[in-house]
Amino acid sequence: MEFHVYENARAACEAAGVLIAAQITRKGDSVLGLATGSTPIPAYEMLTQWYDRGVIDFDRVRTFNLDEYVGIDHKNPLSYHAFMQEHLFSKVNLRPENVHLPSGNGAADAEAYDKAIHDAGGIDIQLLGIGRNGHIGFNEPADDFTYGTHVVTLTADTIEANARFFKSADEVPRQAVSMGIGNIMAAKCVVLVATGENKAKAVRDTIRGPITPRVPASVLQ
Ligand code: PGA
Repeated sequence: MEFHVYENARAACEAAGVLIAAQITRKGDSVLGLATGSTPIPAYEMLTQWYDRGVIDFDRVRTFNLDEYVGIDHKNPLSYHAFMQEHLFSKVNLRPENVHLPSGNGAADAEAYDKAIHDAGGIDIQLLGIGRNGHIGFNEPADDFTYGTHVVTLTADTIEANARFFKSADEVPRQAVSMGIGNIMAAKCVVLVATGENKAKAVRDTIRGPITPRVPASVLQ
């Protein structure tokens, strides 16, 4: 595990964008693991600019997102489908058949998602943010690490953290579907970006604390 500290949030996230761009340059049909949230936005802006300038080409790139809310229409602007359309998919030449997000419609869908990742040859580079409770994807603090894609019940802390995007905390979906810790660990490279003071404790626990499902990101040690 390597650590890099940057002057500000934008620089930290753009550094992750550089790694993704390098991956696409090295291997045109790379499989990207993508994340939503405030943290990755500068990376998507940077990738979009480089696409516009002809530096990178998404024609053969495949993508798998970490997670999505359950019970929210994909057209709803607060869905992660809509987030990805807005920040990346509508701006670059990714083929619609090459982009994937998990769906919360039961165990068969979750298994199909894991199989699709496997059939694509696995994730080459996985981008992650981190929750202030140490979650990665929507793998919330728990008694055990999960392996594959699964439906999760969001913790009160995550609902509160994500309420800023909704009219109120009451409107935040209570469940989500997320890649499991096993899916994330199977990626050939994982890049976690953490910015902001409210993530400091989660970062410390991730790097210096025990490896425990109570701090899901600690598994990256
Ligand atoms: P954020 O979310 O980037 O909006 O802080 C990260 C996360 O919850 O994983």
